[in-house]
Amino acid sequence: MYFRRLRSDSAPIQAAMKSAEIRETFLRYFESKGHAIVASSPVVPHEDPTLLFTNAGMNQFKDVFLGFDQRPYSRAVTSQKCIRAGGKHNDLENVGYTARHHTFFEMLGNFSFGDYFKRDAIHFAWELLTGGYGLPAERLWITVYAEDDEAYGIWSAEIGVPAERIVRIGDNKGARYASDNFWMMGDTGPCGPCSEIFFDHGPEVAGGPPGSPDEDGDRYIEIWNLVFMQFNRDDAGVMHPLPKPSVDTGMGLERIAAVLQGVHSNYEIDLFGTLLAAAASAVGAAGGAADPGSPSLKVLADHIRACAFTIADGVIPGNEGRGYVLRRITRRAIRHGYKLGARKPFFHSRVDALAGEMGDAYPELRRQQRRITEVLLQEESRFFETIAHGMEILEAAIAPLRGSSVAVLDGATDSHST
Ligand code: GLY
Repeated sequence: MYFRRLRSDSAPIQAAMKSAEIRETFLRYFESKGHAIVASSPVVPHEDPTLLFTNAGMNQFKDVFLGFDQRPYSRAVTSQKCIRAGGKHNDLENVGYTARHHTFFEMLGNFSFGDYFKRDAIHFAWELLTGGYGLPAERLWITVYAEDDEAYGIWSAEIGVPAERIVRIGDNKGARYASDNFWMMGDTGPCGPCSEIFFDHGPEVAGGPPGSPDEDGDRYIEIWNLVFMQFNRDDAGVMHPLPKPSVDTGMGLERIAAVLQGVHSNYEIDLFGTLLAAAASAVGAAGGAADPGSPSLKVLADHIRACAFTIADGVIPGNEGRGYVLRRITRRAIRHGYKLGARKPFFHSRVDALAGEMGDAYPELRRQQRRITEVLLQEESRFFETIAHGMEILEAAIAPLRGSSVAVLDGATDSHST
């Protein structure tokens, strides 16, 4: 059986497992457990006006959970393209400056539509993490929703996680999203209590266990969220039971890759190695230079993914809605390239490296490689012209002040003054 082939008892963390292999291992493991492998839905949820971008693997199954849609399968597994920039889950301004924020990321998830529930979801997750991926059990911590005795009992009595590594956490009255052990996709829709699995990066990293005052440190990192879907939250906040209890899980590929590759930052995983190198060489060809650890280089490595996948799914830069978010991400990337010294369009040239790295898993990147490159080039050329024009205005305003004691520009200096 597939799983047995992967298993390596008492193996240390499989440091050499590449992102593509981690993704494939996840899909094949759940396929071996009767799940249909379903393709990622677009990052643009064209049919759901409540969402700006796809922000979780369960989005494409929302109506199945609610009982409005039926599929020929009751178990599914996906590697879903997600974007968290704009809307409720917005990480844009953190990207480049933290170890784990991204505009675009891949979420691995298994789903049960009225089929299995808590017991199987927990057993599957544990078997894959400790067997298929070879993670040491003693470095895994568990949180459960405060009142969920059933989940607590499965982790404790059936899996054998010691009580000191299972933490009960409440829902903070539903005030936050994707945290506090009650997961909601947004203000309305399917939701339920959840159980999260954390990896302990070790005592040399600062931070405390989940639920402790130091939980925001980097030592204990959430790697997988198991949501026990039970309710539909309506506009008034009232919870209605779903037709059947279901399961929705989410594990960020970049996070689990960092754990399995023995690195602390997502930007140090294999997949980002290629994208960072491509960013450095594109900036170099445009007249700039970047220190390998530069936050601006991380911004470029991250943003090319969000931009390319969004364009591949039919969005073009514009002044409102999804087009506006795309424009903001593109311009943020260009500004960071400019900061590194790039003085001509460079960003578009990195689509090739991205298609090379991710085109096997997401063929739309190769199919649309030329179009994505052209859309980005057009947006970049326009923005570089704007920057050049702005620099001329600034230079013209500063020149007469050189040698004088005036150090502050007149607030009225703008494009109308030249
Ligand atoms: N839908 C589960 C998660 O995003 O964590």
